[in-house]
Amino acid sequence: MYKRLVFCGLCVVNYIMCQNIQEKISNPRVCVIGAGVAGLSSARYLKEEGINFTVLECTRYVGGTWRFDPRVGTDENGLPLHTSMYKHLRTNLPKPTMELNGYRLPDDTPSFPGWERYYKYLRDIAKHFDIEKHIQFLHLVESVKRTDNVWKVKHKHVVTGEEFVEDYDFVIIGTGHHSKPNRPILNGEEKFKGTVIHSHDYRTPEPYAHRRVLIIGAGPSGMEISLIVAEVASRLIHSHHSPAKFDTTHFPSHYVKRPDVKELNETGVVFVDGSFEEVDDVILCTGYEYDYPFLDISSGLTLTPRSVVPLYKYMVNIHEPSMVFMGLVVRACLVVAIDAQARYTTALIKGNFTLPSKKAMMAEWQARSDLLHAKGRPLSDIHLLADKEDAYYEELTRESGIARVPPVLYKIRDMDTKAKLQNLYTYRNYVYTVLDNETFTRRLEDESTTSNNTVM
Ligand SMILES: Cc1cc2nc3c(=O)[nH]c(=O)nc-3n(C[C@H](O)[C@H](O)[C@H](O)COP(=O)(O)OP(=O)(O)OC[C@H]3O[C@@H](n4cnc5c(N)ncnc54)[C@H](O)[C@@H]3O)c2cc1C
Ligand SMILES: *[C@@H]1O[C@H](CO)[C@@H](O)[C@H](O)[C@H]1NC(C)=O
Ligand SMILES: *[C@@H]1O[C@H](CO)[C@@H](O)[C@H](O)[C@H]1NC(C)=O
Ligand SMILES: *[C@@H]1O[C@H](CO)[C@@H](O)[C@H](O)[C@H]1NC(C)=O
Ligand SMILES: *[C@@H]1O[C@H](CO)[C@@H](O)[C@H](O)[C@H]1NC(C)=O
Ligand SMILES: *[C@@H]1O[C@H](CO)[C@@H](O)[C@H](O)[C@H]1NC(C)=O
Repeated sequence: MYKRLVFCGLCVVNYIMCQNIQEKISNPRVCVIGAGVAGLSSARYLKEEGINFTVLECTRYVGGTWRFDPRVGTDENGLPLHTSMYKHLRTNLPKPTMELNGYRLPDDTPSFPGWERYYKYLRDIAKHFDIEKHIQFLHLVESVKRTDNVWKVKHKHVVTGEEFVEDYDFVIIGTGHHSKPNRPILNGEEKFKGTVIHSHDYRTPEPYAHRRVLIIGAGPSGMEISLIVAEVASRLIHSHHSPAKFDTTHFPSHYVKRPDVKELNETGVVFVDGSFEEVDDVILCTGYEYDYPFLDISSGLTLTPRSVVPLYKYMVNIHEPSMVFMGLVVRACLVVAIDAQARYTTALIKGNFTLPSKKAMMAEWQARSDLLHAKGRPLSDIHLLADKEDAYYEELTRESGIARVPPVLYKIRDMDTKAKLQNLYTYRNYVYTVLDNETFTRRLEDESTTSNNTVM
């Protein structure tokens, strides 16, 4: 009798707990932060599955960093300008690797479109999937705290100043990671009479006409901005230590490569090899930091400017698995990766699959972390997909049941990367056409479609 009572008591507790969990799974409230590629793709799938969600976006616009703004500094509402877009930007990946699943860039889009075309594509997506009505524009997320098994999200209307606090069951972070400059202060910078900016504030080449310009860094921004500014500058001095073997034979003669900077003085720059160059302007293409000012200790994460840990499958907060980060990967088809992560996250919220135990998720992360350690790599490499990109998509599909990202997209990225190293001036002349999930053709833009298709 006594045993039976206890058993029944447990039954009741279990039942109530299951009810709660069931209730959360059947009608969870989801907060999406940011309305760039990440926010839009998340919204699209959440909506398709009939999940209750809100997107909070601190500007008036969708599209995030793809909206060019000629201003630098702060916007009309006093917020630091989020966008890092510059006027002459063309994508560094070809069309098929910039598309969200099943939503094509228009046929007349160039192989490597400028930002205008891509920004329009993102606005079209918001319209096509009728997402805007789910977005609260001008709402800045100020804090996201875990208490009483919910996420307390505090946000503020940036014009009226009105504050809101809401409870959410799940948080999707889509605030991007190309906005907060990694801004080193150079030795002697205070003495230097010329201008120094970070690429976040670079907009157009005109101010550099007939000037001697030092560009520091050889990431995507450093390489692209060097070539653009070299068109107008009288001398382009490029300081970097990139191990990537760019073939620079195509570069103009007033482009000179130099090692790292030792210091600046009034008139120029001394490099670590002791050489000196007079320069008028400096553009720091030193990359961006991860920046989540709204997170606190309750997230359980360890945040540094170059790493966010521990994350399962490059996105799920292992300590609080009802929080995910979109697109926190590097060296990948970022848009394709975000789209797959948005589908994985939606499938998770929908209850299509459940995550492994915290212990198992920790083991996945620990294995990756140990491997980096053994190779002497920095922890920031934990976000690097590179040649693991296609295997990653395979894993996401195996675990969540989402449609597999076709392997052809990684193959195209790989070929594009090689073409870039060979010739930064011409890699955008190629048109890549997907034939099926595994194969594509590549041809030169000005040739007709049939004359010289090389099947890869
Ligand atoms: C110059 C440049 C060139 C690039 N070129 C390419 C390319 O060729 N190909 C490619 O695939 N990728 C490229 N990228 C990477 C680009 O970041 C991604 O394509 C994509 O824009 C990432 O989208 P996202 O939604 O993650 O972030 P973002 O586009 O940065 O959007 C984040 C959004 O979150 C909002 N937000 C931020 N904080 C808050 C807050 N606290 N509260 C509310 N809202 C907030 C912002 O206002 C913004 O709208 C480039 C990036 C830059 C900067
Ligand atoms: C979504 O959640 C909010 C907040 O709990 C609630 O007010 C609203 O009715 C829900 N909408 C739907 C369609 O369930
Ligand atoms: C800056 O340093 C270089 C190299 O040491 C030197 O030649 C130049 O005169 C210095 N400029 C000034 C203004 O001191
Ligand atoms: C979840 O599963 C259902 C049923 O199999 C499927 O129709 C749906 O597309 C899945 N959702 C996601 C986001 O994968
Ligand atoms: C290509 O991949 C998609 C998505 O995984 C799949 O649905 C489709 O069946 C594949 N097509 C072929 C021909 O294998
Ligand atoms: C076709 O294009 C490839 C690569 O661009 C080139 O190597 C080859 O010579 C071309 N062939 C013809 C017949 O034009």
